[in-house]
Amino acid sequence: MLHAVNGNHFLSLVKDDLQRIEAAIAHNLSSHVPFISNVSRYILFSGGKRIRPLLMILSARMCDCHGDHKFDLSAIFEYLHAATLLHDDVVDNAEIRRGKAPAKDVYGNQAVILVGDFLYSKSLFISALQGNIRIMEALLKATTLMAEGEVLQLLHAEDLEITEEEYMQVIHRKTAVLMAAACEVGAILGNVPAEKEEAVRSYGENLGIAFQLTDDVLDYTADIKEFGKKVGNDLCEGKVTLPLISALDKSTKADHDKLRKLFMQEHIGQNDFITARGLIEKYGGFDYAYALAQKSIERARDSLSVFPPSPTKDILLGLADYIITRRK
Ligand code: IPE
Ligand code: IPE
Ligand code: MG
Ligand code: MG
Repeated sequence: MLHAVNGNHFLSLVKDDLQRIEAAIAHNLSSHVPFISNVSRYILFSGGKRIRPLLMILSARMCDCHGDHKFDLSAIFEYLHAATLLHDDVVDNAEIRRGKAPAKDVYGNQAVILVGDFLYSKSLFISALQGNIRIMEALLKATTLMAEGEVLQLLHAEDLEITEEEYMQVIHRKTAVLMAAACEVGAILGNVPAEKEEAVRSYGENLGIAFQLTDDVLDYTADIKEFGKKVGNDLCEGKVTLPLISALDKSTKADHDKLRKLFMQEHIGQNDFITARGLIEKYGGFDYAYALAQKSIERARDSLSVFPPSPTKDILLGLADYIITRRK
């Protein structure tokens, strides 16, 4: 679950929501095949922050949807997220997820890919039960774009020529569209006018961009114990993210060649990683990515200006700040 960071106290205000989200996640997770429930439970109850369901709940509330029925629907955003993580850890050869062995190392690649598919389908089935075509449209658009994002990323594996624009397209699809959809579905439940619906969606989208930019900085700079994931995995797996793109762009020929050489090695050891991180730092690659994340967070916060002041709006504004100060 979420933990307070740098004096950001919005979390105490969502404790009750997080408990109800937790219950909904457990309650809607049934399968006729007990093995599926076991694998799903392994990934779903291993300490996720629950940001996506929380976004849906808070967006719905800010849009004056106060019914309890929304918690069941919010669970699907965690199922979709868990499905992407099950698949992502196979693709990324992850060694740790949330401080534990990834599900693929416990159950095997084949099993987690199939269970990921189950979670995708289950999510869309639960959503269909709402009988709201607009909700289905939002979700199907998001899942289609997410699949595109992961494939685009794969096509750019080991690609040192990837541009900032191409990188932004990848992170928009793989991460931002799900957060945008969570917010949009909340707004659809609240039946707000199109302008407000778009504002909430845009909040989620910008938050998602900032979230992934921060994740890509943390992949180099985090403390493994706090982050719960292997630090340096992006570099080792040939994933070229903005800190590296930006450093390659700004470095002298000598440092540029050094970074390229390090990156292209068959095996990247701890010392290579430290050297690469130092060079990225030297050329302000982390500051650059972080500054873009901050801009995106400002855009997210500005989007909410069409809403009158309310305690829920304050929580969403606080959540935006948390996204870029987080360490896990
Ligand atoms: C991890 O997302 C995947 C990314 C989009 C970077 P989270 O950091 O929200 O994962 P959990 O669920 O809290 O572990
Ligand atoms: C996010 O990218 C992946 C998804 C949206 C599934 P990452 O590959 O950076 O996520 P982590 O770091 O493995 O959590
Ligand atoms: Mg990954
Ligand atoms: Mg990452």
